[in-house]
Amino acid sequence: MPEEIAFNPFDPSFHADPYPYYKPLLLGPPRRAVGFPVTLIARYADVVAVARNHTTFSSVFPQGVMPEGSDPFEGAPTMPFSDPPVHSRLRRLVARDFSPRRIAELAPRIEAIATRLLDENAAGTTFEAMSGFADQLPVIIIAEMLGIPAEHHARFRKWSDAVASNNATLPGTADPVVRESIAALREYLTSAIERRRVEPGQDLISALVAAHDTGEKLNTEELIAFVVLLLIAGNETTTNLIGNGLLALARNPAEYMKLGRDPSLIPSAVEEMLRYDSPVQMLMRFATCDTEVAGTPMEKGSTAFVMFGAANRDPAQFPEPERFDVARSPNDHVSFGEGIHFCLGAPLARLEARIAFEAIVRRFSEIALADPEFKFYWRGSFITRGLRELPLAVARS
Ligand code: HEM
Repeated sequence: MPEEIAFNPFDPSFHADPYPYYKPLLLGPPRRAVGFPVTLIARYADVVAVARNHTTFSSVFPQGVMPEGSDPFEGAPTMPFSDPPVHSRLRRLVARDFSPRRIAELAPRIEAIATRLLDENAAGTTFEAMSGFADQLPVIIIAEMLGIPAEHHARFRKWSDAVASNNATLPGTADPVVRESIAALREYLTSAIERRRVEPGQDLISALVAAHDTGEKLNTEELIAFVVLLLIAGNETTTNLIGNGLLALARNPAEYMKLGRDPSLIPSAVEEMLRYDSPVQMLMRFATCDTEVAGTPMEKGSTAFVMFGAANRDPAQFPEPERFDVARSPNDHVSFGEGIHFCLGAPLARLEARIAFEAIVRRFSEIALADPEFKFYWRGSFITRGLRELPLAVARS
């Protein structure tokens, strides 16, 4: 029997700041949580080993884990929750649309939207950076990629937020707002798909419809599921990267100054933001056979938490892991995962964040918390980490 440790990710103090809770987990081999049937994989080397071994550690959720009515995919397979060969087929179909080259073409649009959002919402000396910026940029970009018309963006964002908040309810019953939003979003997408069949455009839905209609490689359910997945996997995560990154910079003014003096440090700063306060803190895997991780036994069918946020603070991998250092090098964090499920959207998230922080650094000579006593509310569940509000005081360049 592996050593057990008290670990309750539903505890409000864990939610407010998980990092002190990770420290004991980084001291030795994986442990089992008391009263919570999971093995906690926290050390960097263990996280990498489990994430790379998709044969032993499956991504397919066992039946009955999701509360009824809250599965936004309605049982259709999706990339992050499938194993090969299904996973490989789905990933191949969309890999081209998310390649760094294809994504780089979006730079001028991202730049224009970031500038507009700052013009509209950051004209004064204070700036609520979540609603005014971080919440909006990623959803506008993905909506444009999908060809959703501008007049539907607000509705689309509302559904997307509700669907993304879904994991906050696990392991309970589905929230009625979540259920309704999933149903409304699916209905909207079904008619969007029908329209693209008759009148294809240059957008991503049209490209996926073509893959469906010509090759029969992506069926309609999978197609809807894929679009829903993009919302869940791509919006809140990138919002959290921008929000958590701004918070780290506001709390570390000397690091912000470095970016002002040398904006070429911004890509490296984005990697440090991903490491320091990871938007995705952990994900699950399920053992396909009796196995062990660094000597800790795991039974067939049991659950592992693969804790990217903890691994990114492992002192065995990162010297002074608690320090936020925009020039950190090397910085081989695991915020986008590892192995066959490595984040499909990483080039997009990196590009959005780089452009967002370039726009911010150009505009503001200084940023600080508007109220140093402000009580932060962290939204979502223990799986993701992101702020609800971030009121900043800003000085213009
Ligand atoms: C900062 C932003 C982001 C973070 C931190 C992030 C994090 C992750 C992580 C940790 C995984 C691995 C899942 C696993 O191992 O089970 C993943 C997979 C994935 N991400 Fe992201 N993601 C981000 C942005 C995006 C964006 C913008 C998109 C798309 C628009 C996206 C789409 C996906 C997809 C489709 C997968 C599944 C890939 C697969 O299973 O092969 N992500 N992401």
